[in-house]
Amino acid sequence: MGSLVFVLICLISELFDPMIDSHNNFSAGSPTKVPGSQLVSDLFSEGDLNITEARREWTRNNIDDETRHWLQEDEKYFLHQSLSTPCLDVLEKSEGSCTYNLQGKRYLDFHGNNVHQVGFQNPKVMDAVRNQMESMPFCPRRFTNIPAISLAKKLTELAPGDLNRVLFAPGGASAMGMALKLARVATGRFKTISMWDSFHGAALDTISIGGEAIFRKNAGPLLPGCEHVPPSDPKHCPFKCGDSCNLSCADYVEYVLEKEGDVAAVVAETVRSTPFIPPKDYWIKIREACDRHGALLILDEIPHCLGRTGEMFTCENYDVVPDMLVIGKGLGGGVFPLAALLAREGLNNAMPEKALGHYTHEKNPIACAAGLATLNYIEEENLLEHVRRLGSIAMNRMKDMRSKMPGIGDVRGLGLMMGLEIGFPDQSEDFNRKFAETVLYRCLSNGLSFKITMGVILTLTPALTITESEMSEAMDILEAAILQGPPVQP
Ligand SMILES: Cc1ncc(COP(=O)(O)O)c(C=O)c1O
Repeated sequence: MGSLVFVLICLISELFDPMIDSHNNFSAGSPTKVPGSQLVSDLFSEGDLNITEARREWTRNNIDDETRHWLQEDEKYFLHQSLSTPCLDVLEKSEGSCTYNLQGKRYLDFHGNNVHQVGFQNPKVMDAVRNQMESMPFCPRRFTNIPAISLAKKLTELAPGDLNRVLFAPGGASAMGMALKLARVATGRFKTISMWDSFHGAALDTISIGGEAIFRKNAGPLLPGCEHVPPSDPKHCPFKCGDSCNLSCADYVEYVLEKEGDVAAVVAETVRSTPFIPPKDYWIKIREACDRHGALLILDEIPHCLGRTGEMFTCENYDVVPDMLVIGKGLGGGVFPLAALLAREGLNNAMPEKALGHYTHEKNPIACAAGLATLNYIEEENLLEHVRRLGSIAMNRMKDMRSKMPGIGDVRGLGLMMGLEIGFPDQSEDFNRKFAETVLYRCLSNGLSFKITMGVILTLTPALTITESEMSEAMDILEAAILQGPPVQP
């Protein structure tokens, strides 16, 4: 038994030891601990693992001396953290659907951290930012400004139902924090129900409601009263509902609401960015359960608001209006960090003694000018229609791949938020993860960038402005990478 454990540890350290990367000079200050298999598994939830042999090999084959120098400088000055260290490449330019590295290599960016709804360097956004920079780049908090007011007004006009009140924040996690505070103020309760595997930002309050071990485990005391329930995800559902969600998980939310009796809010991503797309009735059921038990519904649409799912707001796909809607990322036009909390009219009750946000850049005029130009662009260019059309083209292409090639377990998506799940049914999780990773690095070599979530889900989120020929090019790269098959086992 002891020798078996030893062999396993050796195998895992061979695969995941971050210390042996002489090419990337990943050594100074890096953790001395070799990740155990559980840790490796935890790390996979949020993104692809950047400390594997596959990454090192890609670096050896794709990174030149100049880039290596800058990667080493990056490692020298930044605090190291999992998933961010070491970086993959050094970028110099981003435009439209693409980013470009120091050598001018072009990546079709199907990752983009979901900030590139209107594409990088969108001319309308750039003009608005330039103009605003020249007149007033900052607005001290005691004052207000027309770009901020105009953006708030526009958002309330676009948002469903009576989501008529807005508060801006400099990032998604901060906006989620404001929502949690407002839920306490409005209900006089503090407990929340949120989903396992979810992500709501990397701050301490948001990792408390989030459900990923990579942020929660050994993090010390988290917020009290944060209950977690399983998300709508038939494949991993503890209720074993089969191939499609039978809403047992939604019933369970009501069960917990009833048992606790004093829950302030149910907080969840409308669709998980992985993506997992709950069935239509899921949110209607949860909305009704919240109403029955006096809990608010807070939907986090930070990565997929503003058109990614083919609707301006993701909840519009479900005909449900939450009490609070949190948006971010692309709101800043791919230029500025900007997020917003939208709340129902009846929740405007933090005055006089409670501050919800109070962030320095609460009404940053440049960020708001970028946001306004973004919303106008989406409307003027009829981007939602484009998203639905290109999303359907891409989904059909991936379904076709699935029907003719082994190794694709599932294909799913909504608009241009798409996921292709790698999975040979008769192979181990580890085998499938390695294949997913191999596909990623093959794609990166050929100019397509995306993220892997949960180890095996190729998460594909292009700029919403992507052209049909760019989409076709991306699908060709993806298909070729999968067609090549799993890596040869040593
Ligand atoms: C669903 C979701 N919520 C919240 C956040 C946090 O946003 P930010 O990184 O701007 O704090 C993210 C970021 O990826 C997200 O995907």
